Order: sequence, then C-alpha cells, then structure tokens
Amino acid sequence: MLGKISRNDPCWCHSGRKYKVCHQAFDEKLALLASRGHIVPTRDIIKNAEQVAGIRESCKINIAVLDYIQEHIHEGMNTAEIDRIVYEKTTEWGGIPAPLHYQGYPYSVCTSVNDQVCHGFPSKDVILKEGDIVNVDVSTILNGYFSDSSRMFCIGDVGPEKRRLVEVTKECVEHGLAEVKPWGFLGDMGQAVHDHAYANGYTVVREIGGHGVGLEFHEEPWVGYNSRRGQEMVLAPGMIFTIEPMVNMGGVEIYVDDSNDWEVYTEDGKPSAQWEIMVLVTEEGHEVLCW
Ligand code: MF3
Ligand code: CO
Repeated sequence: MLGKISRNDPCWCHSGRKYKVCHQAFDEKLALLASRGHIVPTRDIIKNAEQVAGIRESCKINIAVLDYIQEHIHEGMNTAEIDRIVYEKTTEWGGIPAPLHYQGYPYSVCTSVNDQVCHGFPSKDVILKEGDIVNVDVSTILNGYFSDSSRMFCIGDVGPEKRRLVEVTKECVEHGLAEVKPWGFLGDMGQAVHDHAYANGYTVVREIGGHGVGLEFHEEPWVGYNSRRGQEMVLAPGMIFTIEPMVNMGGVEIYVDDSNDWEVYTEDGKPSAQWEIMVLVTEEGHEVLCW
C-alpha cells in the first residue's frame, strides 16, 4: 500500500509537495483501515487541488446548462428541444456533452418522464404536458474534466402525490449528503438515502447507482443505496462521487426497453424521480460541486 515512496519524495498525487507533508498520513490511515478489512479507495480516484479546480470549472458549465433548462422548460415543449438546448449551450460555453456517443448513447442529455426511471431518449414525440415530472440529466466534459448532475422539473400543476415523490427524493439526497465526511463510509450515505425513501413508503432502484466522477465519466466507486452504515468504501479527502438515487413511488422493479437497450422504466408503470449531485470529500467534511 505505501510502496517505496520516501518521506522527502514528491507525493504520488502530483501536487509537487513532499510526501511527508502531503499524503503520507493519509496512506497510513488507509493502510490501517484496510488491515481491519475495510474497502479503501485506490490512488487513481483521489483528486489533487489542480484536478479539483478543473472539475469545478466543468461543474460551472453543467450548473449553467441546468439553470438555463430550468428557465426555459415548459408545457408543450418536446424533449428533443431540451437536447438541442443542452448541445448548443454546452458547446457555446466551451464544453462537450459527455453523454453524446458515450457507449453508443445517441443524444446530449437524458430526459426521463414520469415512469421512465433514467436514460430517457429526448424525442420530438415526447411533448411535456401539465402534471408531468421530468428528470433532466446533464453531463459535461471541459478540458478533459467531467461533471454530472440532474434535477427534476414539474410541468404546470403537478398533483400532490407526484410532487411529494419529487420532494422526498430531493430530501433523500440531502440526508445522504449529510453523511459524507472523511473517514466515514459510503454505506453511511447509502443507508440514509434508503431509510428516508422507505420511511415515506417509496422504494429505491437497486441495479443502477451513482459513481466516482471527475477524471472519467464513470469511475470507482459504484454508489448504491442498499448499503449499510459502516460498510462499503471508506470516504477519504479528494474523492468525488455522485449521489443520484432513483426513487419509485411503487415497486422496486424496473426494466430496460429492449428496442434500444437504454431507456429504463418502472415495471408497474408508477412514477420515479431522481436528483443527482456531485460531492467532494474534504478534510473537514464535504462540498457539493454540482447540483
Ligand atoms: N448522467 C448519467 C449518470 O448519471 C449518465 C448516463 S449514461 C448516458 O451517470 F450515456 F446516458 F449518458
Ligand atoms: Co451520474
């Protein structure tokens, strides 16, 4: 784990600082936790200050695109228009939409309406109507740095049941976020998300989770919500990951549309909601980079 690095050598994180004043104590802490059987992060997912700065710039575009969508989304609009706006604004501001051509994904954004759980294809045939809830999931590459976040939008007057789903799902993310701190565990976050959803009578999708992000679109760790307190990966300063639970009003079961192998729906046809944030683990706690 500690390798052959000496105290006065440059740190492995490429900060340019000496190992002894940079990540030596960090490595010793992780080695101890690993010896006790915990899952610990590998070095490749620990970001240095320069990388965090680059990721922050990418997040600024991601946030601005979502803000722009928030101002312009409306009843009667089709979701292909959202795709066009995301492409135009992202590129106008110097970024690249990360979803476009990612593993063959054909659009710049995911727009998931009502019983669509995630990865909804934007389409001119999907016209937003009063009472719809829609997730717009935006991801940006800027100078090689990745950002990824999503928000829910309520179209016109949305009934109380769906509104509550949207609000509770956001609270799930906030409850999870409150558990993010150095030397805690990913499972602390996961259980908090899970418990809040189930306490409200909802279920949380098991098969699809969040992920490390920043230097790649999807990095380790995988971020699920069926985990338990004190379990899963140890959280260490410099880790960046998403919290993005998909919360179902009805049953937990989902299926993938086999005509395109992307779009995910609830099995029972009841609505599903999702919010996605990007969080950085800091020395003191955490910082939300993107929402
Ligand atoms: N933004 C999605 C996520 O949260 C990525 C979906 S993959 C894509 O991880 F190709 F559809 F973009
Ligand atoms: Co994501």
